[in-house]
Amino acid sequence: MKKKIFSGVQPTGNLHLGNYIGAIKNFVSLQNDKNNECVYCVVDLHAITVKQDPKILKNNIRETTAAFLASGLDSKKSIIFNQSMVSAHSEGSWILSCVARMGWLNRMTQFKEKAGKDKEKASVGLYIYPILMAADILLYDSTHVPVGEDQKQHLELSRDIAQKFNLEFNEPDFFIAPEPLIQKNFARIMSLKDGSKKMSKSDPSDLSRINLNDSKDEIINKIKKAKTDTQPLPDDEKNLRERPEAENLLGIYSSLNNQSFKDTINEFSGKNFSEFKNNLSELIVEKISPISNEINKLLKDNSFIDGVLREGAEKASKITTRKINEMKKIIGF
Ligand code: TYM
Repeated sequence: MKKKIFSGVQPTGNLHLGNYIGAIKNFVSLQNDKNNECVYCVVDLHAITVKQDPKILKNNIRETTAAFLASGLDSKKSIIFNQSMVSAHSEGSWILSCVARMGWLNRMTQFKEKAGKDKEKASVGLYIYPILMAADILLYDSTHVPVGEDQKQHLELSRDIAQKFNLEFNEPDFFIAPEPLIQKNFARIMSLKDGSKKMSKSDPSDLSRINLNDSKDEIINKIKKAKTDTQPLPDDEKNLRERPEAENLLGIYSSLNNQSFKDTINEFSGKNFSEFKNNLSELIVEKISPISNEINKLLKDNSFIDGVLREGAEKASKITTRKINEMKKIIGF
């Protein structure tokens, strides 16, 4: 049986190496396996859970789509579209809001982090955001969802919602409980400035992340300035426990060079950071610069990008209209 893959990325500014290694790189390898049917979504409805400038949002939707294509996603092999063009996502989200429980949402750690100290001022959308994510996934009967570690809890909620709907309406096979696909070692790429914080678009310091559109000089400079420690690189993974920055940089190298963590440790054991950092920035430039060049090229032709999204939305609508109609029938509409 074919695996059905679904994943999404928010169009909220520059994508970074964490998004690439934790998610998009994996999207491409899943797409290139003939046993998979893949749907990749630019989740613009999720983006508006925090304030967005309309003009910038429009550009960001195109930029994220360009990043998908430049990284190797192919609209002939995968369905690529933006969420707001397929109304079943909003509609399904409402129905599932009536299935999900407040107590489940109250446990979501990402809401607590994003809402910060003043929860009263957060949008209701930010609070129910994981329900929209469940609708995204369940509408396509997705079996597998490639994500970074930070989305694991949301995936568990999607499974709970699927199971509760099936149970409540006595339709045990209606929604499939999706499996997360989280890569070992590379599921949480950390900030270059602090190995205890994840690499993130919202970090005020640009030196904390490598953006997919950074120039060669910016990449070299950021790796040079990346936080490290004073010891040489270890000969065993166990000796990295208290060295999160070293572990992170070795993880980035392993993922981009498509090799195991162990092989990277063997390659650099006993070497000092300056030598390793030279190799690492060379590798990042080699892998990221072609993507960055391609993004810039694609962004010169908005009509091409808009066409990809339109075509993707038509295909996505066909799948989701059927599913949402079945949902409505089950509910009694
Ligand atoms: P978003 O846009 O924050 O991130 C997109 C993907 O990148 C991963 N990621 C990381 N992986 C490793 N290290 C990091 N530092 C890092 N930062 C981000 C995220 O885990 C994610 O896989 N809610 C989702 C988008 C979404 C979605 C979905 C995902 C909406 N609907 C349905 C899967 C299925 C989000 O905000 O991702």
